Amino acid sequence: MRKPFVAGNWKMNGSRASINTLVSGILEGMSRVNNAEVVVCPSFVYISEVADLLEGSAVNYGSQDVAKEESGAYTGEISVSMLKDIACKYAIVGHSERRALYGDTDKIVAEKFVAAQNGGVTPILCVGEVLEERESGQTEAVVERQLQAIIDLAGINALGKSVIAYEPVWAIGTGKTASPEQAQAVHSFIRQWMSKEDGAVAEKVQILYGGSVKAANAKELFSQADIDGGLIGGASLAAEEFISICEAAG
Ligand code: PGA
Repeated sequence: MRKPFVAGNWKMNGSRASINTLVSGILEGMSRVNNAEVVVCPSFVYISEVADLLEGSAVNYGSQDVAKEESGAYTGEISVSMLKDIACKYAIVGHSERRALYGDTDKIVAEKFVAAQNGGVTPILCVGEVLEERESGQTEAVVERQLQAIIDLAGINALGKSVIAYEPVWAIGTGKTASPEQAQAVHSFIRQWMSKEDGAVAEKVQILYGGSVKAANAKELFSQADIDGGLIGGASLAAEEFISICEAAG
């Protein structure tokens, strides 16, 4: 059985004060979460503070990105060794906002993926199509291309040691969720596609859905056979809403 997994991607939101309130609310609500692994991904600036607040709890934390380089003259970048230094367990790579706004190509995402993994931080790899790609029937081809870039650089076993998040770009922050059937179809495609390389790896890998998940639609999405949890943006910024989503995951 794959363990349910819910990660909150706080994006560029929050202040020291709001994050303190958010984390205490999440910690209070954790007694309602039975089995799901719960992760929060604050902005880099606040990771250490969040780490202190979470100490001794079951909630893990991660970053929203990582540099592909190890160290050196890369102004503004954050390396995996820095993340490891503050005991970050996860790093999101290839989020559609990074791909669309900051030039993260499939190759760069694959390099970030490898940097994270080699440095002992588990990548949460985001894949997903934009609206025109869905409408022109290219969803599977796009997701396949994004996953293939990882396999080309790191192999199927490396992909199996990550967490994959399928996030249709048209559903992110738009209030338009993929229907449970639409999401399940892509999740099942990903698993079948991976099983051509290695059945055991495909069966084991956690595949999250992301894109306008909220407490009201989480249960139905997570009850789909190949959906193992969620990557949550907007709804992860309110403790009660986020905890209800985690509760729905199990
Ligand atoms: P959303 O964002 O839940 O606000 O749609 C999801 C994400 O970008 O990971």
